[in-house]
Amino acid sequence: MILLDGKIASQSVRDSLKQDVANLVNQGKRAPHLAAILVGNNGASETYVASKVKNCSEIGFQSSLIRFEENIHESVLLDKIAELNNDPSIDGILVQLPLPKQINEQKVIEAIIAEKDVDGFHPVNAGKLMQGLPSFIPATPYGIMLMLEYYKISTKGKHAVVIGRSNIVGRPMSILLSSNSAYGNCTVTICHSHTHNLKEICLQADIIVAALGRPEFVKADMVKEGAIVIDVGITRVEDATAKKGFRIKGDVAFDEVAPKASYITPVPGGVGLMTIAGLLKNTLQAYLQNQ
Ligand code: GUN
Repeated sequence: MILLDGKIASQSVRDSLKQDVANLVNQGKRAPHLAAILVGNNGASETYVASKVKNCSEIGFQSSLIRFEENIHESVLLDKIAELNNDPSIDGILVQLPLPKQINEQKVIEAIIAEKDVDGFHPVNAGKLMQGLPSFIPATPYGIMLMLEYYKISTKGKHAVVIGRSNIVGRPMSILLSSNSAYGNCTVTICHSHTHNLKEICLQADIIVAALGRPEFVKADMVKEGAIVIDVGITRVEDATAKKGFRIKGDVAFDEVAPKASYITPVPGGVGLMTIAGLLKNTLQAYLQNQ
């Protein structure tokens, strides 16, 4: 079993981006600038956004963190997005999800202009991805593709089973793995909460991408010997013995699945770090296209 180490793979991406930024700055150009919007005080969202901002500064990107109270009116958020859309010094905009109930998430996603939509959630980018056109790829599936590339894992002709059909992970992941490209060309099955015989389908998988958000859902008896296992889950599970009062659990029962897998991502330290690498790559792309 080989551990797919997100620290090592994401470091390689960040080193290369850092060099790109240094080259731009040496040419007298400004650095790429990401604006991140966080609404409310969701603990997990706070952690993710803080990590995104920290990673920006580590590679030389500029970043702005814009915070709003949990109870803001939707129009306040939409006005801020309009301002950032029109600000030529901002290259990428992300609004951390989920949003509070009074805010229509889809409206917010569609308010960000496609050219600055570094999350790749806008229907224009989602549509381009589906048609195989250049677009911003949602950061988590993008990060997984970067992970496959870093470890040179051959995917051609393999059967990939994606568990989960969200717009953020499952759906775009299925498109990327089935696309006619390096680290694509898989036969893809998408499973979800209504899938019959999930265990039997998973047992046929050469690659499993678990993105359903249920801690330790994928057990050893669902995994074929030698399968490649990608764990997208990051759920906080209460644990009084842990310092913070919770532990981060993936969607895969790592200890029992790892001995059967040829490659497996740990949680934490796997896909989460690659997501940030994907976001940073999108931000540089936005900067270059918007110049
Ligand atoms: N919430 C969970 N994943 C993501 C992500 O990739 N981007 C944003 N903006 N919110 C998220």
